[in-house]
Amino acid sequence: MKIEKFSHKFDYVKKKTIVLVGIMGAGKTTVGKILADRIGIQFVDADQEIERAAGCTITDIFEKYGEAEFRKGEERVISRILSGQPCVLATGGGAFMSQATRLLIKKTATSVWLRVSFEVLAKRLEKRSGRPLLQTVDPQQTLRALINKRYPIYNDADLIVDAKDDAVDITVSKVAECLGDYYNAKQSV
Ligand code: S3P
Repeated sequence: MKIEKFSHKFDYVKKKTIVLVGIMGAGKTTVGKILADRIGIQFVDADQEIERAAGCTITDIFEKYGEAEFRKGEERVISRILSGQPCVLATGGGAFMSQATRLLIKKTATSVWLRVSFEVLAKRLEKRSGRPLLQTVDPQQTLRALINKRYPIYNDADLIVDAKDDAVDITVSKVAECLGDYYNAKQSV
């Protein structure tokens, strides 16, 4: 299937980085790649950049250095990406929990929370359980606890898109529409 590019109406969207936030399994990377392609800007995955900078996988970073060190590296890498060219940036699920990162995103980018229900996430993560934070006795309970802690903070994002269990294309279109409305509203004030 040929992917339609968004029209030139989205040119102004290209001027500022779009940061996708949300919990593990929300679809930030999958949605981000297609969104970037359609808008016509670069896609960057923060987790991949962290792995590149560290020279090992995220699982290894957690095992060798612990979560606190991972978080420091995550803040540094995201700050570096935000100082570069506008892009679509998919962040790891814990990145937006850092106040410093949240403030930087507020100042330099437009943030979009891909909100997904516990039920949809639990189903998705059952199939792909490589995440260090979910290596617990009861991953579903851990996921619930993360949702309770993080969703009130994700709520600070500029835009919220309910991703549900929709096909990726539908979510991408919803995000684009939301961004379009957001920029149009900003331009008209
Ligand atoms: C994390 C989510 C992961 C990754 C790391 C920590 C989190 O990214 O950054 O395992 O704290 O939720 P994804 O959200 O892309 O899975």
